[in-house]
Amino acid sequence: MPLDRRHQLLGLARDYGVPIFEDECYSDLTWGGMQAPPALYSLDPQRVIHIGSFSKTLSPALRLGYVLCDWEFMSRMIAIKTERFSHTGALEQMVVAEYFSKHFQPHVDKLAGTLKEKLDTMVEAVEREFGTAVEPWLPKGGIYLWMKLPDQVDVRKLVQPALKAGIAFNPGPEWAVDGNAAKSRLRLCFALTTKEEIRDGVAAFAKVCYEEFGIPEQSGNVRHTASRASS
Ligand SMILES: Cc1ncc(COP(=O)(O)O)c(C=O)c1O
Repeated sequence: MPLDRRHQLLGLARDYGVPIFEDECYSDLTWGGMQAPPALYSLDPQRVIHIGSFSKTLSPALRLGYVLCDWEFMSRMIAIKTERFSHTGALEQMVVAEYFSKHFQPHVDKLAGTLKEKLDTMVEAVEREFGTAVEPWLPKGGIYLWMKLPDQVDVRKLVQPALKAGIAFNPGPEWAVDGNAAKSRLRLCFALTTKEEIRDGVAAFAKVCYEEFGIPEQSGNVRHTASRASS
């Protein structure tokens, strides 16, 4: 989000008297020298609750994250956490503190490099398998590639056939305020899969898409001829 939009958002939050949760679990995983604008929290620490996670930078199984916010919020969150939920495991916290206090930057630099390579592999595969039928949106960080297919493709109808072929993806409508407007958009994750799985998975996904919607007509230099499930 550009700086001027951040200021606008903070202005709205002030006008309506509401706090903002700033969920920034991907902000350390960037590449290409991206200079992100300052966090909302740093622009208005009284109004913003900044949440981070070690799920993406270190390991999801640790179930550890962190919060930065004003004591007015923090004191209430601590009370709720202590009363309603069990405490966070001390051992996991000690492991993360020990490892990241010494190795944070080299670790995230290496991880970001690996993620960028996997993104490149995925973009190459998507362009090869879907050709001109696809518009990928190249991220400068994170673990997802968003892409748009032609308007006649409703990605919600691809979920089950894709699952049968062993592919899970995020349909755009589940991540949009206006679901119908995002019906041809989808998100693919490139974090856990190997480069080979990415290549095979995207090829299999293009085949599923062709079988359901007749798109893409061509993958690489192969013209699809398989019989289609529906038209
Ligand atoms: C934006 C965002 N916030 C938070 C989370 C969840 O993080 P955690 O594993 O720490 O619950 C995710 C996970 O996918 C995410 O994409």
